[in-house]
Parts: sequence; C-alpha cells; structure tokens
Amino acid sequence: MRPVLAVVGSLNMDFVVTVSRLPAPGETVLGSGFQMIPGGKGANQACAAARLGGAAMTVRMAGRVGYDVFADHLKASLSAAGVDVSAVHATKAQPTGVALIWVDRTGQNSIVVASGANHELLPADVGALRPVFRDARFVLFQLETPLATVRGALEAARQEGAQTILDPAPAQRLPAEFLRLADILTPNETEALILLGRPPARVPATEAPGLARALRELGAARVVLKLGDQGCFCDDGARQLHVPAFPVEVRDSTAAGDIFNAGLAVALAEERPIEDALRFASAAAAISVTRLGAQASVPARAEVEAFLQTAG
Ligand code: RIB
Repeated sequence: MRPVLAVVGSLNMDFVVTVSRLPAPGETVLGSGFQMIPGGKGANQACAAARLGGAAMTVRMAGRVGYDVFADHLKASLSAAGVDVSAVHATKAQPTGVALIWVDRTGQNSIVVASGANHELLPADVGALRPVFRDARFVLFQLETPLATVRGALEAARQEGAQTILDPAPAQRLPAEFLRLADILTPNETEALILLGRPPARVPATEAPGLARALRELGAARVVLKLGDQGCFCDDGARQLHVPAFPVEVRDSTAAGDIFNAGLAVALAEERPIEDALRFASAAAAISVTRLGAQASVPARAEVEAFLQTAG
C-alpha cells in the first residue's frame, strides 16, 4: 500500500511584493515586483509532501476556503501537485485566507495573514476528519487554524493510529497538552523560545541541546529544532543529532520551514533513518530558499536527490 500523509491546516493566497528593504512602522517603501503565489502553512506542507513524495505517496489535505476565485486557484495548485483535496471544504462565513508578504533583497520577509476561512475549521469538524487520518503514517499540523480544532485533530489522528508532527507556527505559547500530543515537534528558534516563555532571539547552535531538552520535558516525544543557516537539531531522548545547513544563496525564506517539515514526513514515512530524513528535509528547504514564493519554490523529489548527490 502507498504510504499516506495527511495535513490539517491553512490555505492562503500569498500577495508577495519584493522590496529593497522591509518598511519601518509608518514608512512607505516602493516595491519592485508583485506576484500572487499559493501559500498557507498547511497547503505548503501538503504541496511539498506530494512533490517530494512523488507518485509513490498519497497526500491528503484538510482545510477551509471561501467561495471565491482564490479558493479555486489554491485547490487547483494542490491538485496539480498531486494532493487529494476532497477534505478542503468551502464556507460561506468567510473569504479564503490571504497573506501579505514583503521580501527584501537578503531574502528576509515579513508576513501578515488574514485568516478568513481558515478560522472556520472548527472543533465540530474533527469527527469528519477521521477518514482523512485513516491509514496515514503521519499527520502534519501547524497553528493557522483554531487551536481547539488543532488539539482535537491531534487527538483524533493519534486515535486513528497516525503519528503527529506539530509545527508550532506562528509562534505562540501553548498549553502543555499540545506538546504531549506531538510525536514530533518542529519549532524554529523563535517558536522554541516562545514555547518556553522566553523572549525571541537568535540562539547559537550550542544552545540547541538545552532548548530541545526543555521542550521534551514539556511533553514532546521528539523535538526537531529548525535553526535556519545553522541547520537542524534533533533530540528524541535517546539520541541527539545536529545536521548542518547546506550553504545556498538565499532569495526568499518564505515556506522553508513548511518544506522542511514535508521532507521530514516523506522520508520518515518511507522508513528512512532519521539522519537521512533530516538531510532530505534540509536539502528540500535549502533549494526552496533560492527561489521566490511558497508553493512556487517547492522542489521536485528528483531535484532534491540530485542536490544531495552533488553535496556528497
Ligand atoms: O510559512 C509560510 C506561509 O505563512 C505563507 O505561505 C503564508 O501564507 C503564511 O501562512
């Protein structure tokens, strides 16, 4: 049977403007280009899982969109990547989610999300998600849909026998029960610090073991810290593993974390060892940051394999 991955989360149309530098509060800057690119953390993870998993993987997406042209476009983009979108339902209550994104010339971005229909994925919908979770090896979650829904769906996914991967993004404090429901927790530095009640900051890779241990003590079974250009650090209690980042020229880091999570899920669903899974995920994310946009930057599996061969 083909391995199954499921994603519960957001779908947004990203409005992307490239700028020479990010605007300060109250400032107007002139942008140099504008594109509408399919995004949303959930949809990005689903799109990337399908492209990285290839024909051998079944990927299902569950979420909410509005009745508008963005919804059609977002669903078509996922379908084209090979994602089963039959659990992406439309609501009349809100328009499809959008994100306004500025990307500067160093590849840094600022993102504001108007969640819209994503906030209409309600706890009452969790029961209907069970068939989506059935037979799934992993179910991927993020935090752009209501927290109560995420919590219920995490529980339901585990009851259906799947392992859960929780991306605690956008950064926020979470009740400990969320971390206990995560088989794999994948924060970046900011998200990790905020989960631990500390102010956001850049942390040296040497601090990663302490952060990962603290998060495991809060309940996460396995922690994979995403450290940007410092690579990633995995701690499952028995083993700690640091995988350095691949050096690349950064054009736009939007969705790199989403693509990392998809790569990790794909490789683990294929029962590859964790070292390989982390390298595969890092390579997929590294390729993505050399390109503009969220789903537009997702590499195909063959590209990641070629990249890894060249990297040695
Ligand atoms: O993680 C990147 C994503 O965050 C963007 O695609 C945007 O839609 C926001 O959800």
